[in-house]
Amino acid sequence: MTLTVAIDGPAAAGKGTISKAVAAHFGFAHLDTGLLYRAVGRRTLDGTPALDAVLALVAADLEAGDLRSPEVARAASQVAAIPEVRAALVDFQRAFARRQGGAVLDGRDIGTVICPEAEAKLFVTASAEVRAERRLAELLAAGVETDLPEVLADVRERDARDEGRADAPMRPADDAHVLDTSTLDIDAAVARAVAIVEAARTAQD
Ligand code: CDP
Repeated sequence: MTLTVAIDGPAAAGKGTISKAVAAHFGFAHLDTGLLYRAVGRRTLDGTPALDAVLALVAADLEAGDLRSPEVARAASQVAAIPEVRAALVDFQRAFARRQGGAVLDGRDIGTVICPEAEAKLFVTASAEVRAERRLAELLAAGVETDLPEVLADVRERDARDEGRADAPMRPADDAHVLDTSTLDIDAAVARAVAIVEAARTAQD
């Protein structure tokens, strides 16, 4: 059985939490594709050219402790605008999407470019202010010194770059279910996502 769940959306909208919960609910594998771009971005911080960084990527790079830092997030969205970097990551993501047993991938272009044939597509979003508050709480809990204006500016800058790039810009697929989590708590958001995937699974039988 193959079934792909594509979960796209902007920074800190809740994609990661929803994706993990959906994968656990259905027993599917989960790939956070943002980690691929973060791992490449992280390697460029010491001056490694982005294309060298993506070609040298190994599984252990996805385990690095600082992948969630704001510096790495910024570097990730910069390397993510380079078509050759994106191209180098396509085959791995496509193979993961079609693996046996079902897969959930979260990112920016899963439903539009990586797996347009995904059986279930969600675009998870929320207002920039709500997303910045959520990201601030995560960063403070991880011991990062920052404040709301800085996080909001980072989120807006990254959204603009992710939406504005020529190659695989962030946008909902035409057939995506848009899930605005601005006023939903996590349980409610997960319940909606699970219902969408359940409907896709039933349609497949
Ligand atoms: O966790 P958050 O939503 O803040 O970011 P992420 O999903 O880890 O992605 C980090 C950056 O990688 C994004 O700002 C995008 O520029 C890039 N990305 C992408 O271009 N395509 C993807 N499929 C996933 C991430």
